Amino acid sequence: MCGIIGFSGSTDAKNIILDGLKRLEYRGYDSAGIALQNGNVINMVKTSGKVDNLVAMADADTKLAGNCGIGHTRWATHGVPSDVNAHPHMSADGKFAIVHNGIIENHAEIKNKLIQKGVKFLSETDTEVIVQLLDYYYDGDIKKTLVKTTSMLEGSYALGVLCVDNPGTIYAAKVSSPLIIGIGAGENYFASDITAFISHTKNVIDLEDGEFAEISADKITIFDHNFKEIKKEERKITWDVAAAEKSGYEHFMLKEIMEQPAALKATIEPRIKDNKVNFDELNIDIKKYDRILMTACGSAYYAGCVGRDVIEKLCRIHVHTEVASELRYRDPMIDEKTLVIVISQSGETADTIAAIKEAKNKGADVMAIVNVVGSAIAKLADFTIYTWAGPEIAVATTKGYTTQVIVLYMFAVWAAYKLGRIDEKQLLELTKDIKRLPERAQRTLDLNTKVKKLADKYHEKQSIFFIGRYLDYAVCLEGSLKLKEISYIHSEAYAAGELKHGTIALIEEGRLVVAVCCYEPLLDKIISNVQQVKARGAQVLALAVEGNKKIFTEADDVLLVPKANELFMAAVEIIPLQLFAYYVAKNNKCDIDKPKNLAKSVTVE
Ligand code: G6P
Repeated sequence: MCGIIGFSGSTDAKNIILDGLKRLEYRGYDSAGIALQNGNVINMVKTSGKVDNLVAMADADTKLAGNCGIGHTRWATHGVPSDVNAHPHMSADGKFAIVHNGIIENHAEIKNKLIQKGVKFLSETDTEVIVQLLDYYYDGDIKKTLVKTTSMLEGSYALGVLCVDNPGTIYAAKVSSPLIIGIGAGENYFASDITAFISHTKNVIDLEDGEFAEISADKITIFDHNFKEIKKEERKITWDVAAAEKSGYEHFMLKEIMEQPAALKATIEPRIKDNKVNFDELNIDIKKYDRILMTACGSAYYAGCVGRDVIEKLCRIHVHTEVASELRYRDPMIDEKTLVIVISQSGETADTIAAIKEAKNKGADVMAIVNVVGSAIAKLADFTIYTWAGPEIAVATTKGYTTQVIVLYMFAVWAAYKLGRIDEKQLLELTKDIKRLPERAQRTLDLNTKVKKLADKYHEKQSIFFIGRYLDYAVCLEGSLKLKEISYIHSEAYAAGELKHGTIALIEEGRLVVAVCCYEPLLDKIISNVQQVKARGAQVLALAVEGNKKIFTEADDVLLVPKANELFMAAVEIIPLQLFAYYVAKNNKCDIDKPKNLAKSVTVE
């Protein structure tokens, strides 16, 4: 939630920061702001609305100049989205400007104390206490003041600071919110995410919790709360700037849907040795566990639902799924014999982090499936498997989800072999089936034009039901979420057999039901559910496997996807549902990459 960027160099910082904010907008987009330091003055422009609003205002502001500055794009938590609540926040004397991503949990307490001392607050944000504390404690030594100020804070922060007495220098500090430093030639950066400055440099330093950075155009010093300098390793980002750009696509979401075959391949290949799935490098003693608990949020949770069914089927070990935002309230039955699998694209989700802490407190081992290298979740887990999806910018995940599903398939196969549930021949066969999936995904993308036409036909529907059984039901959950997230059309995913026990009354003349009929052992069952909704006047769009002739006599429209191992169909069959959500949203003129009220990385509970 919220994106921050800082720059110090010898060129005008304005465009660099504004460009960085556009790239960070997936983190939040209800208001934005920029502050630049020009000699001994800090000038600031901030506004509610998207970064484009800020760009227009910043362009028109001639005073806004300088080679050093900070920027912010916000997802409101404390205080409505408004000009005054937008960051940066400045001290009354204009000495400090700060940007912040995170939540200061003891802000009310600090605010009360400062008010008693005569400090005046302008905004409703938790963040403002930081800038007021800096100003209150300042004795001419910014580093000392920064350390003292942060020692008062409880909660999470990635913080960027400008101080008028230190021209050309930006300061950063972090606890529990992401912050990465970029090393350029004669210019340096910090940001919430490398996408903000990837077009300028690929050399980075990861700032760890409790560390501080003093960054000027030609020097970066990292220090701890005792002002002891810390030597840090540099890391080089391997992906290219094009990965974080639209490259001719109208939206990131469409680009990311199209990138899925490549992302699946990149995720699968490094884990295959001698034609067999291999996770030996994880050093997990899988025999140690008598159950698996899978936990995550949103789409990552739905990937977990697919994984649950496949792991249970192949490994014959009990797998339970639980949304991460609920896990800790249930006093869950977790112990050292439980393997907790957490799934997260961003690696930052606060609810998922809280679930990890709960699991660890109860003695469980935690395995994380994460896309962002070096993210908080990757670091907290005992074992980490990366999904090599590359950067995902659209708020609604696509390639993030399918690569999570693929990792879960591979883990299921590998664990089943280790547990002696499958023999080497089956391991080789299942590995071969997994290796075929990128090609199947590629062929599924050929449905693009057909799906677009169906979206033209159905985009005005007020409510859409998704039904499926077993693994298809898990896919329905994600297909329905995708549609809701980006098109704002009401949608429900139902286990097909359950509809008659619940809201079948809502199936009426003209209601669209998307029936996912890809798990062929249950084909007759789902077809009878299709007949039930047809009998009540529904229009049915069916998703089935190539070669299925029966479905044409039952459904109004049919999309056929390539056949894969029936256990592994989710990675293929979700693709037309992603495209359907995309084109419905496009027809309805929705802001596809930045859907209303959502943010890609949700760092609040
Ligand atoms: C947010 C996003 C969802 C995402 C979920 C989990 O709610 O809007 O699209 O699935 O977070 O995110 P993660 O980064 O943990 O996979």
